[in-house]
Amino acid sequence: MKYDKTVLVTGGAGFIGSNYLNFAVPEYPNYQFINLDALTYAAKLNNVHIEKLPNYLFVEADIRDANKLAEILNSET
Ligand SMILES: NC(=O)c1ccc[n+]([C@@H]2O[C@H](COP(=O)([O-])OP(=O)(O)OC[C@H]3O[C@@H](n4cnc5c(N)ncnc54)[C@H](O)[C@@H]3O)[C@@H](O)[C@H]2O)c1
Repeated sequence: MKYDKTVLVTGGAGFIGSNYLNFAVPEYPNYQFINLDALTYAAKLNNVHIEKLPNYLFVEADIRDANKLAEILNSET
């Protein structure tokens, strides 16, 4: 499916990001949400409850990894 927009959420397994995703992913089915998180000690991926929705994608990566970031943006947007 082609989405109207792609929203990159960094740190989406953290406190703010997981709450945002739980709200926004079902609220905006015409937007694709990419949760990019390095899964550090602060991450709690099971706080994200919308992982089965088709407009949600989780990628384990470090935001400082420019090559990986370019790869994600080129393939998903
Ligand atoms: N229960 C609570 O009330 C509660 C719990 C946790 C945090 N907080 C508050 O929430 C605020 C912080 O929330 P937050 O969501 O900004 O931070 P967070 O620490 O909850 O989450 C940060 C997320 O970013 C990820 N991350 C860190 N470095 C990264 C990198 N280089 N690349 C990719 N991902 C990376 C981590 O793995 C983590 O999932 C603070 O004010 C804190 O006090 C409250």
